[in-house]
Amino acid sequence: MTSSLPPLPWDQLAQAARAARERAYAPYSDFAVGAALLDEQGRIHAGCNVENAAYPQGLCAEAVALGQLVLSGGTRVLAALVVGEAAQPVTPCGGCRQKLREFAADDTPVWSADLQDITARHTLGALLPASFGPDHLGKA
Ligand code: THU
Repeated sequence: MTSSLPPLPWDQLAQAARAARERAYAPYSDFAVGAALLDEQGRIHAGCNVENAAYPQGLCAEAVALGQLVLSGGTRVLAALVVGEAAQPVTPCGGCRQKLREFAADDTPVWSADLQDITARHTLGALLPASFGPDHLGKA
């Protein structure tokens, strides 16, 4: 069976996430991250990490991108891409997996990339199995 779904714009997502990473405010970790999200209208929303001298108050790139999506009227995340330079692929932290879960399905692709390449391809369900979500509260 052939799929009628349009291909996902991975090149544009990677470009947006890499550009956002350039804006990272990460003076404490020196670990710059960019994220890009595709919404249900085909728009891309990007974010960078924004750290804070009170360390736990820092924001991950994915959280900033989600804020942009919601502020723009987006309601769903159809694809996510995270960019960071590390020995292993940079995947969303646990808290951001849950934040994405609010707007994404188990089969939503969540890809990792560095400045050159795609480094990992996961689904949200693989990163956050048996998750708690809006459906548990009757809000599916
Ligand atoms: N960080 C993100 O922004 N997203 C991730 O997926 C992993 C971690 C940030 C948080 C902190 O500013 C820095 O990377 C080091 O943990």
